[in-house]
Amino acid sequence: MGAGIAEVFARGGWSVVGVEEQPEALERGRRRLASSTAHAESGGKLSADEGRALHDRVRYATDLAELGGCDVVVEAVPEVLEIKQAVFARLDAVVPAETLLATNTSSLSVTALAAGTSDPGRVVGVHFFNPAPVQPLVEVISTVLIAPAALDRARTVLESLGKTTIACRDRAGFVVNALLVPYLNAAAGWYERGQAGLEEIDQAMVDAGMPMGPLALLDLVGHDVTLAVLRRLHEQTGDRRHLPTPLLSSLVEAGLLGRKSGRGFYRYDSPGAAVDAGMLPSPAASRAGELPEALLVPYLNDVLSMVEVGYAAPATLDTGMSLGCRMPRPFDQLAMIGPERALAVQRKVFAETAEPGHRPALLLEQLGAAEDPDLALHALRTAPERGTPVGLA
Ligand code: CAA
Repeated sequence: MGAGIAEVFARGGWSVVGVEEQPEALERGRRRLASSTAHAESGGKLSADEGRALHDRVRYATDLAELGGCDVVVEAVPEVLEIKQAVFARLDAVVPAETLLATNTSSLSVTALAAGTSDPGRVVGVHFFNPAPVQPLVEVISTVLIAPAALDRARTVLESLGKTTIACRDRAGFVVNALLVPYLNAAAGWYERGQAGLEEIDQAMVDAGMPMGPLALLDLVGHDVTLAVLRRLHEQTGDRRHLPTPLLSSLVEAGLLGRKSGRGFYRYDSPGAAVDAGMLPSPAASRAGELPEALLVPYLNDVLSMVEVGYAAPATLDTGMSLGCRMPRPFDQLAMIGPERALAVQRKVFAETAEPGHRPALLLEQLGAAEDPDLALHALRTAPERGTPVGLA
């Protein structure tokens, strides 16, 4: 992720210092940046001259002290609070007071990190999406300690780099992962329980308009990252749907982290080729016909719950999911399925699982029961943004 973020800034004309303390890790980052820009060049997204200029703007270093002259520092070290805290403690001593300090985290509390620094007001969360140079969204996370000017500055900088930002309060999973990751976990559960085969699941969701299947996406994100997000979600929500499906934990224990380790659900023996790693036999009786509704509707129910509690407005959710993950806009998906049908499916899922997290959202109940559900959905979607819990009444 660090290499991707460096690429985004260098692409936007910034001089970048890429720091990795281990020379081998630095070399991996350099190679990653080179292969990403080569891919962009072959896809016609970058000219050879632009590619060269981009590389000229990046300097590589193994010492954090090299960051002393930077206006903005984006930390992207492993997702372990103590490691991040140690880096921030050192940054405090290296960079001037005006430097904006950003952490790229998907599973840690930005607040906990900020609170341990000498000036928590300048610490902001910036959550990029894989692959960072390609996905247009960055979630910008504020804490109760942030100086408003720091939040504005982070958004202005990222938008000047061509990114779209959404502002999120510091909550497990922020907006996008709190919706995406439970959907991915549910898909992994379908595979683990033998309800459908690997490629069947992925193909069903691609056919439903997703840019890639959920199990291929889990391999792209990295199972260690997903596991960390799920654990944090579960810690905060207590929702059993956020407990990692056991197969995901086994993959991490086995070091099969996905694309970055060469194997996850798929094997990546040669570039561009993903082959079923053959962990589980093909199911004797596949329920793939129930997909994609069985995965999509609970996800859309979560989307409505998020609106209901006032954490994010429909427009923010549409932007987040479509620009962070290139998924269809959730409110388009809901309109396509229809609120009544979605409510019927969600009630069935709830009845079958007795899982409290699957209880239909109040908003879904209201939409489904409205005289004209499609019109009610339209009204919800276009209602002015409010910061407090909303209902349709
Ligand atoms: N700079 C600019 N553009 C680049 C680029 C670069 N370095 N590298 C690739 N591109 C462009 C390509 O030219 C291509 O452009 P067009 O679509 O205009 O042709 C586009 O980016 C896609 O690249 P590819 O051709 O390599 O690949 P693809 O079309 O098969 O798409 C994918 C692959 C981008 C991964 C796509 O399937 C996708 O978006 N999948 C969803 C990924 C997703 O959900 N990411 C978020 C995961 S959650 C996360 O990351 C956060 C977390 O905390 C867990």
